[in-house]
Amino acid sequence: MNAPVAVTDRLVLRDFTPSDVPLYVALSADPEIMRYLGGPKSAEHCIGEIEAISKQYAAIAVGMLAVERREDGQFLGICGLSYEPWYPDDLQIGWRFFKDHWGQGYPTEAARVWRDHAFATLGAPRLISISDVPNFRSHRVMERLGMRPDHDAVLQDGEETFEARIYVQERALWQSVINAGNFPR
Ligand SMILES: CC(C)(COP(=O)(O)OP(=O)(O)OC[C@H]1O[C@@H](n2cnc3c(N)ncnc32)[C@H](O)[C@@H]1OP(=O)(O)O)[C@@H](O)C(=O)NCCC(=O)NCCS
Repeated sequence: MNAPVAVTDRLVLRDFTPSDVPLYVALSADPEIMRYLGGPKSAEHCIGEIEAISKQYAAIAVGMLAVERREDGQFLGICGLSYEPWYPDDLQIGWRFFKDHWGQGYPTEAARVWRDHAFATLGAPRLISISDVPNFRSHRVMERLGMRPDHDAVLQDGEETFEARIYVQERALWQSVINAGNFPR
């Protein structure tokens, strides 16, 4: 197994392994999971994506990596950081989990590590998260991380456009809450 990026109470955050590939493909082929991520993706697309993510993580410590459950080694989904074309100067935080694992707080637990990595290790001045306006489950993760809605925008994704809500967390706010030691759990 690849060395973990981090270990939390219940999770291991790590780079992808070859055995993750079919699971990543299944995750990204599910229409409900991909409803607000531009729809299901092909296996070929996913394989290219995994390779690109791992390469980027090795180079600059930015990536949407695997999330594994500690107790049984189950691949639950992905979480991490990326650069998105609409806001090329900002680090964005994101997540995608199998439906069986929604409603147990796993995405928020993983995302806290990536949020702290963005600010503490990478020195980001701010962190953004982009989601479709109706993706309220994703908004709740952002709010649990201490992010707040900043603005809405109509964004172009290939041939399609979508109405996006952009959440933001400024470094100064993150720092002040860390210093006070009272981030919401
Ligand atoms: C968005 C997504 C990651 C959210 O998943 P989630 O499991 O709801 O995320 P959270 O970490 O916020 O889970 C919190 C829920 O777990 C519950 N929970 C249960 N046990 C818990 C525990 N031990 N600790 C924390 N929360 C727990 C909370 O009460 C909360 O329930 P609620 O949503 O009914 O209030 C998931 O729906 C998903 O993968 N969607 C598809 C992909 C997607 O749209 N990605 C985002 C694109 S922008």
